[in-house]
Amino acid sequence: MKSNSGYEAWLRYALCEDTELLEHYRECTDQIGVQPGSEIMITAIKELEHGIRIMTGSRPRIGKDNLKEAGILIGVIGNMPELDSLYNGEVEEPLLEDGYRIRSVGEAGRMRLLLTSPSEQGILYGIFHLLRLMQAGQRLDSLHVKENSRNRLRMINQWDNMDGSIERGYAGQSIFYRNGKFVTDQTRIRDYARLLASVGINAIAINNVNVHERETLLITEELLQEVAKVANIFRAYGIRIYLSINFASPCQIGGLETADPLDVGVRNWWRQQAEIIYRHVPDFGGFLVKADSEFRPGPFTYGRDHADGANMLADALEPHGGLVIWRCFVYNCLQDWRDRKTDRARAAYDHFKPLDGCFKDNVLLQIKNGPMDFQVREPVSPLFGGMTQTNQMLELQITQEYTGQQKHLCYLVPQWKEVLQFNTCALSDDRTTVADIASGKAFGRPVGGFAAVSNIGDDINWTGHPLAQANLYGFGRLCWNPGLEAEELAREWTIRTFGGDKKLVDTISGMLMESWPIYEAYNAPLGVGWMVNPNHHYGPNVDGYEYSKWGTYHFADCSGIGVDRTVRTGTGYSGQYHSPQSDRYESLEQCPDELLLFFHHVPYTHRLQSGKTVIQHIYDTHFEGAERAEGLAASWRTAEGLLDEGVYNQVMEKLRIQAEHAKEWRDIINTYFLRKSGIADDKQRMIY
Ligand code: GCU
Repeated sequence: MKSNSGYEAWLRYALCEDTELLEHYRECTDQIGVQPGSEIMITAIKELEHGIRIMTGSRPRIGKDNLKEAGILIGVIGNMPELDSLYNGEVEEPLLEDGYRIRSVGEAGRMRLLLTSPSEQGILYGIFHLLRLMQAGQRLDSLHVKENSRNRLRMINQWDNMDGSIERGYAGQSIFYRNGKFVTDQTRIRDYARLLASVGINAIAINNVNVHERETLLITEELLQEVAKVANIFRAYGIRIYLSINFASPCQIGGLETADPLDVGVRNWWRQQAEIIYRHVPDFGGFLVKADSEFRPGPFTYGRDHADGANMLADALEPHGGLVIWRCFVYNCLQDWRDRKTDRARAAYDHFKPLDGCFKDNVLLQIKNGPMDFQVREPVSPLFGGMTQTNQMLELQITQEYTGQQKHLCYLVPQWKEVLQFNTCALSDDRTTVADIASGKAFGRPVGGFAAVSNIGDDINWTGHPLAQANLYGFGRLCWNPGLEAEELAREWTIRTFGGDKKLVDTISGMLMESWPIYEAYNAPLGVGWMVNPNHHYGPNVDGYEYSKWGTYHFADCSGIGVDRTVRTGTGYSGQYHSPQSDRYESLEQCPDELLLFFHHVPYTHRLQSGKTVIQHIYDTHFEGAERAEGLAASWRTAEGLLDEGVYNQVMEKLRIQAEHAKEWRDIINTYFLRKSGIADDKQRMIY
């Protein structure tokens, strides 16, 4: 078995072992006709050659002189008459800018494969698609592929700091920075770009949203040459770079006395700064901004609102085609736990809904999937559907801050799918899903997309837990097509990463699909969230955040638990949704069990729709969760011998830790609630 460090991730190619299929692949790929192109085309062809060489064991002849004989013809539409003529007379829905078509034409013996796109970027995606089919062992003689991405922006956010650390990173140090500087050997950045492009990512913010002193300088001459080098690497893979900026830059590095967005001097300063940036990086994507959030500076300091702040930056970037991605993670993080009226969940909507329609066309509001902060279970942010005249972007967290920190297995695609499919009911006559709102489709916005916080670092396998790569993979694929299914993606990722052995694919995809429900089972119950150790957020601590300033409470006492967010008696948060979603959440009877404690404060004896009482549900899920976590290790044992031994052992070790920690979750949560409620477990299991 070929050893597998995990470095190649899902771009791991192996010689095709089926002799008939191998013959077929060789026939198809032996001659490839392409028109020469520029940078992205060169990358694309290199990728194709690399993949084919390994999977077929022979080097294809690639060029522009063999167009007549070539088994594969590749070209940008309009640039290659030989190719265009083969499509003559066909009427088809047009391809979008980075969409592509792959089509088999002719008969056996004279079969040819045509790959076309309006852009080189689309060709790159088409080539990765073709390689994916070959990794999965599919024949190429009856392909009829047509792909358009549903999202214009498919973005990764790195929370990397220039000292080399990564905020909420669980897989080593930054691949971008070390000791205040950019790394000198940038091979790894290129390999990351490759992985990202292979799943369709086209944008990346390369520094943490919390912009510290050193990183504030990224937009200045001092560091822009280095930024430009990184931009060059990503450009070859069709990815534009963005920088997180410090809203107070005009004061901090510009020598001005204010950062007031309406001040003429400040506005000019940003305009000049934009010009400097674009001189170094002509296709610079734009700014990602965390403002007035968790002690970051912002327009509030000057009595201005977020539209003033975002539009000022948008004015500066507009002449260059740049975007402002403005985050909606804005809330009071100095709350008094005794104050029951302030509700952090309401904050984003309360701040941004009144500004709907006030943002310039090159501004996007980046909204976290839920109203709190990437918990294992949250309702969807009501800003989706709340705003109809503003460009939006969905923000997800691939890095497992609250979902096991890449020690626990937690495949997040099923969670994201629930978010994407959620019907906001914003348009009464239709299904107005989060996916369609974020893409811009639902309300006819010019631009939209998905962003997510990356889970990679400089660990050899990128993500620490070898199986956590599936989350990065799944995010990219969902950005391209939110309609893909979680299980389909789990299987696809497994095949590409570990090969197509059926038993292995069943085992790994099965474990992935079970993992989020298992994690949720031993975590905070029924959507109430938190219950983690403060600061680092790993491991159970029921009251860890209960008497703190962060606005994250569960209000458990001897008679009940949960946050009353109803309109009738609580904070009114449920009223931020459109009916009938608002009615569903408002109603104690109709509120879905899994979110009950997010919306209601109930006695422990309250009966759920499942028929169980809340307290019995807590006990049962925690016993089951810990048991099923142990079961993951048992499933993994059946994979022994079917994959690289190093990976096998590494995953086994993680699963051992997970099983142990799941028991800790079980015992701490169950003990807490037994002591609080005084109600015994129906099944009289051991609770300490
Ligand atoms: C969470 C996380 C922080 C991060 C913040 C954000 O609160 O713990 O580390 O900075 O989200 O999204 O800005």
